[in-house]
Amino acid sequence: MSSLLRTQPSFRPMRDDDIDVVIAMEHVVYPFPWTRGNFHDSLQSGYSCWVCQHNQFIVGYAVLMLAAGEAHLLNVTIGLEWQGRGWGRAFMQYLIEVARDYHAETMYLEVRPSNTVARRLYHKLGFEYVAMRKAYYPARQGREDAVIMLLDMKKHA
Ligand SMILES: CC(C)(COP(=O)(O)OP(=O)(O)OC[C@H]1O[C@@H](n2cnc3c(N)ncnc32)[C@H](O)[C@@H]1OP(=O)(O)O)[C@@H](O)C(=O)NCCC(=O)NCCS
Repeated sequence: MSSLLRTQPSFRPMRDDDIDVVIAMEHVVYPFPWTRGNFHDSLQSGYSCWVCQHNQFIVGYAVLMLAAGEAHLLNVTIGLEWQGRGWGRAFMQYLIEVARDYHAETMYLEVRPSNTVARRLYHKLGFEYVAMRKAYYPARQGREDAVIMLLDMKKHA
């Protein structure tokens, strides 16, 4: 656990009735947020959807797609007022364990090149640069590329 984090985080599967809170956080954090439908469909599709809690409060959430021996992290978010306190690192470590329990050989994700906090965190957790996906994200002016990062689960057993 991060030295910053003084409270043991708890994680539980996301439920339909969490979506109101999740979508409110999503709109605060991202200029181009996921829609309610994106979260609803993720739950309906059986994706591995999680919330990170502090006491009774949801401080973050994540959506992980587990298929064909791979884990693909589609969304990981810590609420704005909770960021920078160690929750994101703890949540990522938990999600890596979820992927490991699924026996995923790799875990990959996309991140904006401009998102230096997230990129550094992923790098510290063992994710490596794989490639750039051109014009992947909507941006204020045109589109922004995505950096694809991959964690080789065998290397980080
Ligand atoms: C990226 C995100 C998940 C990280 O979670 P977090 O709780 O803020 O991060 P943590 O407090 O666990 O810190 C992780 C590392 O980043 C560093 N960090 C966190 N915020 C930082 C900041 N504003 N500036 C510089 N470094 C920062 C921490 O020092 C820590 O490094 P360490 O592990 O060496 O101590 C979270 O900030 C977030 O949800 N951001 C907005 C949404 C987003 O970008 N999601 C990822 C999309 S790919």
